[in-house]
Amino acid sequence: MTTVSPTAVIDGIGSCLPPRVLTNEDVRRRGVLDTSDEWIRTRTGIARRRAAEDDTSTGDLAVAAGRAALESARAGADLVLVATTTPDRRCPATAPEVAHRLGLGTVPAFDLAAVCSGFLYGLTVATALIRTGVCTRPLVIGAETYSRIIDPLDRDTAVIFGDGAGAVLLRAGDRAEPGAVAATDWGSDGSGSDLIAIAAGGARQPDPARRRCRDDHYFRMRGREVYGQAVRRMTESSRAVLEKTGWSPAAVGAFIGHQANQRILDSVADRVGVPPRRRYGNLRDVGNTAGASIPLALADTAAHRRVSPGTPTLLTAFGGGLTWASVALTWPAVRPLDRAPEPRTTDSTPRPTPRRKTWTLSTTTS
Ligand code: COA
Repeated sequence: MTTVSPTAVIDGIGSCLPPRVLTNEDVRRRGVLDTSDEWIRTRTGIARRRAAEDDTSTGDLAVAAGRAALESARAGADLVLVATTTPDRRCPATAPEVAHRLGLGTVPAFDLAAVCSGFLYGLTVATALIRTGVCTRPLVIGAETYSRIIDPLDRDTAVIFGDGAGAVLLRAGDRAEPGAVAATDWGSDGSGSDLIAIAAGGARQPDPARRRCRDDHYFRMRGREVYGQAVRRMTESSRAVLEKTGWSPAAVGAFIGHQANQRILDSVADRVGVPPRRRYGNLRDVGNTAGASIPLALADTAAHRRVSPGTPTLLTAFGGGLTWASVALTWPAVRPLDRAPEPRTTDSTPRPTPRRKTWTLSTTTS
């Protein structure tokens, strides 16, 4: 009997951006910030970002992006993973409700918290679950509403972050197929946990309102230190994942890094050795969307058909924790869809059941 070792293959991509656009000038005026459009563009590469309306939650964006990914693959999912730092509620996780609203029945569903590395952590987990036969069609969503946790008066963060969601539907497939995950790398360093943090709202400082320290409820970032860590960790992780695949930097045809800051992205790609014409992203138009950043950039690049299916692709991300992750894959042959945010109503429209394929697992892992 022939043994086949499956891997994860991207089968569908979807995205959702809330319609409200905030320009740099909008952000400056709202917080009466000592900044300028010119400073923000030249120091970060960001010109505008999206902001969800008050009645639109992370789960709403996740449902819309997830539905678009399912429709793009014309298939269902047997697991839902939502990577987010801005869940709808502290308890329960957002993913089960998203799965329910997508009409996926009683599939397993959970949130993953790795801040801006969350989506690539999710892709790594989902790939492992496919390779070990735990599921065959995981839906991995990155969704965020940072507008809810950003202090509009804090120029270190207010000019950077935006809202949105992106999703990929994976399936078990062959390593030679376009969209196949070739290798993953991930890591963390908790000694830097204070560099990116929300002080209150957790077990250490549970009730910010009663303690009259509402400011501690906001997301804070020590930008300059984060900058150095982001360049170092994404560079090292990119090199590590390329080593696992055996691809040289010259073989990488598409590079998508976490859309944090154009200067960070350029430093990483320069150090790894990926030339500018092979770098893709949408930072200028959406800002840093944290866990949604990589799938939104994937969806945008795929929608514009900028990369041919089968092209060796390097994804890398860095975030609070500190955490980082990289995934090497080939560019998928997919037709991405974009969806408007959906109203927060329970939608139990049945989805097609996943196409099942039987795999015989080999004992080799990579
Ligand atoms: N507008 C205008 N001036 C600003 C500013 C703003 N929004 N933010 C900082 N400055 C000023 C500083 O006060 C400083 O002034 P000084 O030279 O008079 O002291 C100067 O600009 C440079 O400050 P610095 O902190 O070195 O800026 P920077 O070039 O590092 O850019 C960030 C600041 C936040 C954009 C940048 O550090 C960054 O992108 N960090 C990482 C963000 C990131 O990766 N986040 C995602 C991780 S999950």
